[in-house]
Amino acid sequence: MNKQTEAVLNYHKRTKHTLERYAKGPESLDWEDQPDQFRRFSGCAIISLPKPGAELESLFADLDIPETIPAQPLTLTSTALLLELAFGLSAWKQFGPSRWALRCNPSSGNLHPTEAYLISTGNEFVNSGVYHYVSHDHSLEQRCRFPDNAAFDSELLIGLSSIHWREAWKYGERAFRYCQHDIGHALGALRYAAATLGWSIEILADWSDDNTGQLLGLERDDFKKQEHEFPDIICRINTHVHNKQVADRTLLDSAQAGTWFGKANSLGAYHMYNWPIIEEVSAAASKPQTEEPGQQTIRLAIAKSSCTKTATQIIRQRRSAQQFDGKAPPLPQADFFRMLAAVLPTTAAFEHWRWSPKVHLFIFVHRVAGMAPGIYALPRQAEALEALQAATLPEFDWQKISEAIPLYQLHSGECRQIAKTLSCHQPIASDSAFSLGMVAEFGDTVQTAPWLYRRLFWECGLIGQVLYLEAEAAGVRGTGIGCFFDDSVHELLGFKDDKFQSLYHFTVGNPLEDKRIETLPAYGHLDNVA
Ligand SMILES: Cc1cc2nc3c(=O)[nH]c(=O)nc-3n(C[C@H](O)[C@H](O)[C@H](O)COP(=O)(O)O)c2cc1C
Repeated sequence: MNKQTEAVLNYHKRTKHTLERYAKGPESLDWEDQPDQFRRFSGCAIISLPKPGAELESLFADLDIPETIPAQPLTLTSTALLLELAFGLSAWKQFGPSRWALRCNPSSGNLHPTEAYLISTGNEFVNSGVYHYVSHDHSLEQRCRFPDNAAFDSELLIGLSSIHWREAWKYGERAFRYCQHDIGHALGALRYAAATLGWSIEILADWSDDNTGQLLGLERDDFKKQEHEFPDIICRINTHVHNKQVADRTLLDSAQAGTWFGKANSLGAYHMYNWPIIEEVSAAASKPQTEEPGQQTIRLAIAKSSCTKTATQIIRQRRSAQQFDGKAPPLPQADFFRMLAAVLPTTAAFEHWRWSPKVHLFIFVHRVAGMAPGIYALPRQAEALEALQAATLPEFDWQKISEAIPLYQLHSGECRQIAKTLSCHQPIASDSAFSLGMVAEFGDTVQTAPWLYRRLFWECGLIGQVLYLEAEAAGVRGTGIGCFFDDSVHELLGFKDDKFQSLYHFTVGNPLEDKRIETLPAYGHLDNVA
């Protein structure tokens, strides 16, 4: 085993929560001293984007067949809408003197370690270069101006990075996992935003992290040391208005020869604790240049969503449920089946995910019409079925219960209490209609290449984002669950080694609103700005 793989496996093991003790985190938190949620760069030209909040006609249900959605022309307005629907604010919440922003993309603890960048070339509406998106102001900060003499085709790319420390401030050593989940959610949010505009995304999966960092200017000396950003991913936005692409090398050369502006703000909070293991695991899981497979092309039809809302409505209303009504009527079976069908890898939502699925669902059904409470499994790929059967408890039935989706009943019986206990005693895992664990093909994947560790979490986040939006479309609500007792989940299912590991949990049900919390418009604060 090489050193990087060892470091990644060691990190994973060490950051498991157990019933006896939680992974290492800060012993106390000063809530007044939270890291600034919004990164800004001082000394950059700022472009205020067209007013947020525009509605488009495409229905959420249309996103299953995105080709039916007319492609929006590539303008500053449509680019701004892409950024807003993917990473923009969706509301403010207020409770007493506390006020906090919510965004279209969720984030563990609402800490938002993910930063988004726009790379534009050859577009008349903005000079070629690299821009940082400030979701609070709905504006772009020009970080880099590409050399004027470079002749470019029209291109739009989005880059994502993570400020690990922003998350570690609250969650300590386990934070690196949550940053990866958040990247998966952001990738999902970007895909839905693009599809709403009649566009699609392509992950530039070959790129090394070093190159991603170079294009986004992350290796520059413009960041406070502990608050620097780690490169994660670059996506090309296919706007269907041209078919030429700017070569990767040209982008990198332009960034290298370009003029850079700005210094990153300090996130403010006092760095009371350090978590060196996060630096270690990010170095060990850093991605080199690789050759990756092309986009997948097989799409299988699924039962149509009954949702009649527009895609923009569903995207902006997405929230995490804080509590569920454990006595609400059961979730209709058709909605449950639709949600599970929507996370299969052969849907439009996973077309940019080039790799065969490595994450499978183990579901705790509490209250779904026509379904016995119990434990179910949804292998997201037929080839995984045998290995999953072999690795789980021999007494599981594995009785196939649907022709339409690969859903198997393993054990019948009330499992609310166990679901709650396993998810760090959180009632959101038991009062819902169902909750689930996302189980990854782990050991072999990480042994193949240590950086694939991050991709497993991204796949989980992407599944989570699909579930969030599908839950809204079905008139219920979801919540991601990063806090769970890893090995207790494995024990319950029968896993004896690290061949399979549960990496993320999720729950869906009838939300209970806390009426004391006021909801304010996402961009009301911009109304008075000249
Ligand atoms: C990776 C991840 C893990 C999360 N874990 C939990 C959790 O364990 N418990 C919980 O109540 N909420 C959890 N959440 C929900 C977040 O707290 C929520 O996304 C955040 O407060 C922002 O609110 P919003 O989703 O309504 O925009 C998680 C969300 C994500 C993305």
